[in-house]
Amino acid sequence: MSSDNESDLINPLGSVRRMCADKTMTYKCSTLRLRRKFFSVFLSMLTFSFLLLICLMFSYITEPLAPVHDIHPVHKYNINCSAIYDLDPVEAGKALLIRQKQVVEDDDDNLINLTSNCPVFLQSRGYNDVCVSEEEKNFPLAYSLVVHKYAWMVERLLKATYSPSNIYCIHYDQKSSAQFISAMEGLARCLPNVFIASKREFVIYASISRLKADLNCLSDLLQSDVKWKYVINLCGQDFPLRSNIELVSELKKLNGSNMLETSRPSKLKKERFAFHHELKDASFEYQKLPVRTKEKKSPPPHGIEMFIGNAYFVLSRDFVVYMNSSAVVKDFLAWSEDTYSPDEHFWATVVRLPGVPGEVPRSQPDITDLMSKARLVKWSYLEENLYPQCTGTHVRSVCIYGAAELRWLLNYGHWFANKFDTKVDPILIQCLEEKLEEKQQLFQSVASPTCHKKRRDATKQSSSSSL
Ligand SMILES: *[C@@H]1O[C@H](CO)[C@@H](O)[C@H](O)[C@H]1NC(C)=O
Ligand SMILES: *[C@@H]1O[C@H](CO)[C@@H](O)[C@H](O)[C@H]1NC(C)=O
Ligand SMILES: *[C@@H]1O[C@H](CO)[C@@H](O)[C@H](O)[C@H]1NC(C)=O
Ligand SMILES: *[C@@H]1O[C@H](CO)[C@@H](O)[C@H](O)[C@H]1NC(C)=O
Repeated sequence: MSSDNESDLINPLGSVRRMCADKTMTYKCSTLRLRRKFFSVFLSMLTFSFLLLICLMFSYITEPLAPVHDIHPVHKYNINCSAIYDLDPVEAGKALLIRQKQVVEDDDDNLINLTSNCPVFLQSRGYNDVCVSEEEKNFPLAYSLVVHKYAWMVERLLKATYSPSNIYCIHYDQKSSAQFISAMEGLARCLPNVFIASKREFVIYASISRLKADLNCLSDLLQSDVKWKYVINLCGQDFPLRSNIELVSELKKLNGSNMLETSRPSKLKKERFAFHHELKDASFEYQKLPVRTKEKKSPPPHGIEMFIGNAYFVLSRDFVVYMNSSAVVKDFLAWSEDTYSPDEHFWATVVRLPGVPGEVPRSQPDITDLMSKARLVKWSYLEENLYPQCTGTHVRSVCIYGAAELRWLLNYGHWFANKFDTKVDPILIQCLEEKLEEKQQLFQSVASPTCHKKRRDATKQSSSSSL
């Protein structure tokens, strides 16, 4: 076999070239030359369009900043939230079916992956589209988020309350999983106004550690460059019922006073701080609990009169600054160490101390949880009496809301509510997000037509960057 034959096999155009070398076949050759020219033009055109196609495909894929298969934002259900709000029976039925059959769990690893590329995270979750009105810019809020699991729920809580003008402290638990911690650090890395508490507690239910977690955040927040006007604490099962611009308008009306539950304690509640408590393995649900001993406690220092409330507050900056440097508050905190659930009497008592900024005078009647707009909680034993029945489920007598309560929640008048859980009803949270977004845009368009995007870069706290 000759080398020519070999090349014929390799290159079919080679045979055409060889045939044209024969001068007796000129006619045949000219037509072949024509065919050859046509064929090569056709081939280069084909190559060109193929390259163009690849180019187009590639630019399409890279346009949204990263390959599409790497982006896993929260799962969205196909539901009409306006119809849910209107209590449309068909849509409500659809929501119930989704709840029973198709709850998709968004796992912590997805958030770690998403925040590993901050531009993609910010864009895919809409952080780049958050506007700041003049009113919001001039009235920054601070948040203390004491959380321990379900990273996506924390992200959604953050997004629902988010304004670039605010400042957020995340306190994760020392016993949180490595994945959860990484996801929280991802949030702090991507968002310039979010940081991790410089000191983290091992939080034990009903013990002083829960209170200290908030105090750690408050202390960090005081150091921040952001001169926030009010601070709000949230846990992982809370959700806002007001958009940021609505909250700003409500908090302005407080005129420096604080908003929290503060009532006179019942005889039973008094036992929580009349006796010395010790941490013991006492329950199968929690690792440890403060357990009452027979040892009586001395009365609180400085003749402090005790009040009781819940762990949630809306506190003015002046109040927090005062607390930070008050010897009376410091002594009271130390005295509270061995009480049961000190977070449920600490704030309620301190806000009644004579002379504190935004003081609630001791003579003033009780402020119950239904009067304080800080947190709406639905107790099973008051359902159908004070409010409609829980449409989710109950945990320790507290309602985890369902989608049928969307309208009631938004119209009750409170600013935040507890408890929410995507595993109990994912539709409710999706619809709350949608409604809050709508309200934010509506109020911003009315309040200030010059809504401008504002990016903070110089406010990153050293505590978060050192992690
Ligand atoms: C959603 O429901 C509302 C009223 O319940 C209705 O007016 C609207 O057309 C619905 N939207 C869609 C996209 O079906
Ligand atoms: C996260 O990213 C890694 C590497 O890019 C990948 O192997 C892993 O499957 C991703 N995990 C999830 C939950 O998407
Ligand atoms: C707001 O508080 C200031 C000082 O505490 C008081 O002088 C003023 O009257 C208050 N304004 C309203 C509208 O309550
Ligand atoms: C809070 O208290 C600490 C120590 O008591 C003090 O160093 C710090 O300046 C105080 N912060 C503010 C904002 O008052």
